[in-house]
Amino acid sequence: MTVTLRATRIADIFRLQEIERAAAELFRGSELIDIDAMAVIPMGDHLASVEAGISIVAEIDGRIGGFIMGEMHGDVAYLRELDVDPAYQRRGIGAQLVTAYVTAAKGEGAAAIYLSTFRAPPWNAPFYSRMGFIDVDRADYLPWMTAMEAAQASFLDLATRVFMRKA
Ligand SMILES: CC(C)(COP(=O)(O)OP(=O)(O)OC[C@H]1O[C@@H](n2cnc3c(N)ncnc32)[C@H](O)[C@@H]1OP(=O)(O)O)[C@@H](O)C(=O)NCCC(=O)NCCS
Repeated sequence: MTVTLRATRIADIFRLQEIERAAAELFRGSELIDIDAMAVIPMGDHLASVEAGISIVAEIDGRIGGFIMGEMHGDVAYLRELDVDPAYQRRGIGAQLVTAYVTAAKGEGAAAIYLSTFRAPPWNAPFYSRMGFIDVDRADYLPWMTAMEAAQASFLDLATRVFMRKA
């Protein structure tokens, strides 16, 4: 298995949406997300991430099998989405993508990387914790995080969520 990380291209985006939906199956039965009602990251948001230089794909034997993307909020980056095709999970590709995202975001001037994830599943907060992310106290939320959480409240149980940060 050969894994190559590279910048996302516009033509990749439909494949990324396919992987996002397939990867979400990991949550089926967990009651954390309504998988069948789940929306994927819209095309326009992918385009903005590509233009910002912080969208990366993992090609596995020549076909995209995972991706990571996000957005800049002033001088910090938000890691919005990370997904690996179920056929290739648990082989370190997710960790490679996170490391590459941090490098790319710092290269774009990010002073810190933030994300929002579920507290309990081992592939969410515990995984990011091993990658050097720490929980953000509510008192330390940046204004856009408060707005993001308010939007999440309509489709997620906020008690299951945590914001994390890597300096
Ligand atoms: C998060 C995700 C991208 C990680 O991808 P990955 O290529 O499997 O990541 P890695 O192989 O680097 O390791 C992930 C670690 O998470 C944990 N993990 C992943 N899948 C797991 C599972 N099914 N059961 C238990 N632990 C799991 C393990 O600790 C694993 O490390 P290990 O295999 O060395 O024990 C992948 O699980 C995924 O696509 N999940 C669904 C979407 C999602 O939750 N995205 C993140 C949203 S914030």
